[in-house]
This record gives sequence, structure tokens and C-alpha cells, in this order.
Amino acid sequence: MPTRRESPQQSVLVLHGPNLNLLGSREPEIYGRETLADIERRLTAAARAQGVPLECFQSNHEGALIDRIHRARDERIGFIIVNPAGYTHTSVALRDALLAANIPFIEVHLSNVHARETFRRHSYFSDAAVGTICGLGSRGYDFALSYALGRLSQKAGS
Ligand code: DQA
Repeated sequence: MPTRRESPQQSVLVLHGPNLNLLGSREPEIYGRETLADIERRLTAAARAQGVPLECFQSNHEGALIDRIHRARDERIGFIIVNPAGYTHTSVALRDALLAANIPFIEVHLSNVHARETFRRHSYFSDAAVGTICGLGSRGYDFALSYALGRLSQKAGS
């Protein structure tokens, strides 16, 4: 009897930090007019087209984001896309949670954080990330997902 291989399919987790629930109406000249729901719909459809489950999670609370990352350790999450928003520049705890989870991640920012206030130039995440995308608006999430899907399918095939 042929041996059935266990499905290696892993999923993608997209994490959004504080104030990103206000996308669409929050400083649209910086962050654009798309809502978080618009972006999440697009990402979910793109992942589904390749048969990859994708979950989005947004919170305005550092602890809730950390708890979600802890749960990810016990789930079949193969890649994280994270926009830590304001926590980018402040949160050692969120960085530590991602390192503890040991799941590869891409850091995404809608705006070009290097072309804004000086305090936005420092990130607690960039050196631990597979890569960082900033300044490309919501397209940055699409590029990050495209990379993640490629990486997961490579892993599934190996
Ligand atoms: C942001 C940039 C951060 O500096 C800011 O605090 C945000 C959004 C971005 O996506 O451009 O909330 O992460």
C-alpha cells in the first residue's frame, strides 16, 4: 500500500499593530485610502489561489499581539508578515516574541519610515527579519506575501 505523506501545508499569519484598524481614514496622505479589510481581502484571496491558509490579526494592544505570536508556535504557521506600526520603534517585547516563535517574518510598513521623523528610522525588528519592505503602500503586503508563498511552496516540495 502506498504510504501517504502527511500534508506539509503551512499557513501565513499577517499581524497588524496599533492604529492600523483605522487605515482608510487615518492620515490618508501617508497611509492611503484602502481599509485594512480591503488589504486583508486581497491577501486572503491571493493565498487561497495557491491553496495556502492565511490569517490576519490586528490589535492595538502589545500583549494581545504577543499572545497571538505565542499561539503561532503551536500552529502550522510557516511564515509571518508583520507591520508592528508604532511598536516598531518601541517594543523589545514584541521582538522577543517573534524570536521565541522562531518563525521567519517580513516587516512591512506602508510609508517610507526613513523619509519621516528621525524616531521612525529605528526598528526593533529589521535585523531579525528575513527582509523589510517600506514605502510601497499596501503593495508592500502583496510583495511580502508573494515571497512567503514561494518560500512555503519550496519547503513543501523539498
Ligand atoms: C507604519 C509606520 C510607523 O512608524 C507608524 O507608527 C505606523 C505605521 C507604516 O506602516 O508606515 O503606525 O508602520
